[in-house]
Amino acid sequence: MSFAFVAADLTARRAAGLYRHRHLVEEAEPGRLRLDGRWYLNFSSNDYLGLAYSPELQSVAESCARQHPSGSGASPLVTGHLQAHTQLEDYLAQQLGRDRVLLFSSGFAANQAVIQTLMRHGGRILADKLSHASMLDAAQHGPARLQRFRHNDAGHLGQLLDKTKDDCLVMTEGVFSMDGDQAPLAKMVLRVNDAGALMLLDDAHGFGVLGNTGLGTVQAMGLDQSRVPLLMATFGKAVGTSGAFVALNETLYEYLLNFGRHYIYSTAISPLMAALTLKSLQLIETQGWRRQRLQDNIQLFRRLANQAGLPLMESQTAIQPLLVGSVTRTVQLAEYARQRGVWLTAIRPPTVPPGSSRLRITVTAAHEQAQIKALVKVVAGGYALGQ
Ligand SMILES: Cc1ncc(COP(=O)(O)O)c(C=O)c1O
Repeated sequence: MSFAFVAADLTARRAAGLYRHRHLVEEAEPGRLRLDGRWYLNFSSNDYLGLAYSPELQSVAESCARQHPSGSGASPLVTGHLQAHTQLEDYLAQQLGRDRVLLFSSGFAANQAVIQTLMRHGGRILADKLSHASMLDAAQHGPARLQRFRHNDAGHLGQLLDKTKDDCLVMTEGVFSMDGDQAPLAKMVLRVNDAGALMLLDDAHGFGVLGNTGLGTVQAMGLDQSRVPLLMATFGKAVGTSGAFVALNETLYEYLLNFGRHYIYSTAISPLMAALTLKSLQLIETQGWRRQRLQDNIQLFRRLANQAGLPLMESQTAIQPLLVGSVTRTVQLAEYARQRGVWLTAIRPPTVPPGSSRLRITVTAAHEQAQIKALVKVVAGGYALGQ
């Protein structure tokens, strides 16, 4: 029978304890969600600033819905590029000090577009070992040669760069999605710029959260367009909406507009979503208290977790993984927490390397101190049982 691999792959996945399924969230509010009629504390969300479910953004959404159409009705080069898109692009370009911004329906599509389009004639791609699937997939599906440097190792990147004469794209993340640690970008960009290579930074988890006004890793580290010519971030995390953008110089912008198949052959993002995203970005800029509260919550979590003897990773960001190791134990620990009203996601291979399964705990600005205390108590209780 053809497609016999479908059943075989599913059976193998089930046997390895790695089978995936979705959970229906019936209702959610900042920091909490309801499934199967039961409310849980939510420590699995990327809504780092607590905006997605905030009454404030909800009421802005209602007024945007009265002013903007829900759909753009066409791809951007046909008739889908509307006022709401230009306003969002211009705001981002101006805030970030970049020539241009292009909008995409998701961060996954944005990464595919940049990487596949710029590497369509081959060349070399150097990627951090822990780069997100959206970057690695794009890198693997084109004619360019992909090499991966050791995680956050600017020295190793430098050695690989020394050997390159080709067009070379270097890619990494501002904040790593499963580890929460940050790239040593200042060191990396010097080497990348010296070698004449292009730097692509995926700041999905830093944008909105880091920097004085929430412009992310480039703002926190003072890296302008000449240092990081390609900046990608998604709206689906701290911004609390959906879609993504790429900020870039005029020439690269023109190139993507002319050759970027993910941009050209896809419906422009919803104008309603673009307008709402702009409003959310303005809230992020002015509501520094959200970032401050997130920082306070991260520090509180780390202090309590240390006191409870939990082995935390190096992360200083909202992503605070608890490395467990075995798949079975990680799943058991997540289940233990759920039974006690705390929703945590067990992250298993292939999302993370074998032997490094973990609970990906995410702290947000929406959490109350008492909720963080409850989280640590539950996780420490479950962790101790498995020792
Ligand atoms: C590092 C990173 N890049 C890109 C993406 C994709 O973004 P989006 O969810 O908007 O497709 C994600 C989200 O899962 C991510 O974590």
